[in-house]
Amino acid sequence: MEEQVPSLGSGVESAVARAMARVLPEQAGADPLVRPSERADLQSNAALAAARTARTAPARLAGSLAEALREDRTAPIARVEVAGPGFLNVTLTDAALWHQVAARAADPRLGIGTPERGRRTVIDYSGPNIAKEMHVGHLRTTIIGDSLARILGFLGGEVVRQSHVGDWGTQFGMLIQYLDEHPDARWHQADLAADTDAVSALDQLYRAARALFEADADFADRARRRVVALQAGDPPTVATWRTIVAESETAFGRLYDRLGVLLTPADYAGESTYNDQLAGVAAELEAAGVARLSEGALCVFDPAFTGPDGAPVPLLVRKSDGGYGYDTTDLATIRHRLRDLRADRLLYVVDARQSLHFAQVFAAARAAGWLPDTVEAVHVAFGTVLGPDGRPFKTRSGGTVRLAELLDAAVTRARAVVAEKNPGLPAAELDRIAEQAGIGSVKYADLSTARIKDYAFDLDRMVSLSGNTGVYLQYAHARIRSLLRRAAEQGLAPDPAAVDGTVAPAGAERRLVLLLDRYAGALSDTVAGYEPHRLCGYLYSLAKAYTEFYETCPVLAAGTDAQRANRLVLSALAADTLRGGLDLLGIAAPDRL
Ligand code: ARG
Repeated sequence: MEEQVPSLGSGVESAVARAMARVLPEQAGADPLVRPSERADLQSNAALAAARTARTAPARLAGSLAEALREDRTAPIARVEVAGPGFLNVTLTDAALWHQVAARAADPRLGIGTPERGRRTVIDYSGPNIAKEMHVGHLRTTIIGDSLARILGFLGGEVVRQSHVGDWGTQFGMLIQYLDEHPDARWHQADLAADTDAVSALDQLYRAARALFEADADFADRARRRVVALQAGDPPTVATWRTIVAESETAFGRLYDRLGVLLTPADYAGESTYNDQLAGVAAELEAAGVARLSEGALCVFDPAFTGPDGAPVPLLVRKSDGGYGYDTTDLATIRHRLRDLRADRLLYVVDARQSLHFAQVFAAARAAGWLPDTVEAVHVAFGTVLGPDGRPFKTRSGGTVRLAELLDAAVTRARAVVAEKNPGLPAAELDRIAEQAGIGSVKYADLSTARIKDYAFDLDRMVSLSGNTGVYLQYAHARIRSLLRRAAEQGLAPDPAAVDGTVAPAGAERRLVLLLDRYAGALSDTVAGYEPHRLCGYLYSLAKAYTEFYETCPVLAAGTDAQRANRLVLSALAADTLRGGLDLLGIAAPDRL
């Protein structure tokens, strides 16, 4: 991690570790337990934990550690005090604080290292279904998956994106047959009015085909034969299937562009890509004794997975009619991602309601020897998006809510908020900023909720300028940019080399520096549990800390030139950290709002 600027926290950790090695050598490797502190800059709880193990009095041990820390000339520490039963309250030197600000501000990566280097993560996310419109149910997987992909990539990891598109199954027989019998149906993008989407046209066809399938037994028969033709590779059937897939993927791509999601066509690895691997998957599982025949079907019975009646819930590898389903395809994804994509880690960003499926698939893959213990496989599960009334989100008529529609509604609300805040904006700029604020507010509302929780889709709250919202963070960022523009008009530019370590920082200034120092920690916390809401929480604290600083510490009108120079760099670092963090969430940070 050569480019990382070590955090002040880790500087104190090393100092506490050195002190421990001197005072109580048998505890030398213990965790220094350095945390933010209410009373000082940082605190270490090491003495409490170590005293318990060593059976000595914590206060005495803390006293000896404090003594050793005071003698340590290399530590960035100005004062150490023992508090309570044996906490070590640490005040950092002003020089160390300012050095930290200057070093991070001078680094294009803001001091963040690359702890993920050398690790390849395959991340499965979005996975919408062909010939259907993306709906609110696809929001979370797309947004959370994309943010995790960005963060892992930024931390130096190699990220392989995979969208497990639903592009196979009996519904295609129905759709292709219907299209054949209704040559006038308009669904190609080229035939549609500019503002209609091929996918919504396909979606309507899908409903029509489904209705006919249910009402007309002869049509249903023809549709079933069409599935067989598709599976057998009948050229005209496959050709129609391909156009349907291509039209859908183009429409997904447009939505991804609008959302600022990184998925590209190269990342689509739909269910159909595994077709010719499924028989091999089944054969290997059977040969390994992991799966066995039961009433003609090939199943995995794992005693770890039982239903409410205590009977094992089987994983269905091959149906009794010889067909394969969702379980088998996901077994194939694991085998492929290990053998061919050489993953070191597998993430599946999928609805929590699929947790049994993934637990079973992972267990079978481990039993088959495809998934070694050294490779982590995680179902990155998330809760449901609820309507404003707290019930599952549906349209008034009870249908699914289209994602495109939700985004439009958010942008409309955001436009009103931005226009009110900033009445002088030219129309084109208002459009652009409203789009960024509207999309950002939807993404942020999703990402800032603890992943596993359900949340209510409440547009008014999402676009609010106050509280833990995307717009609030974008506004906090834009306000700093505006300050820096005013500085530039006076010929003042933030210059990390000009930071003066002898300036005593004010209270709010000190808190801001300490918070900026925690950026790397916030990112590693986020990755530890694959929880973007940790990064959101950090950015929100940072924006609040900057506001407190801004209200109490004049920048352009600072008391001395040195103070002003320091505050300019501090402001620029705060803006860059907000922008960098928002970018890792996939959210734009406009310069004006
Ligand atoms: N297409 C599926 C759905 O809409 C999601 C696929 C998730 N990924 C996976 N490997 N199963 O529910």
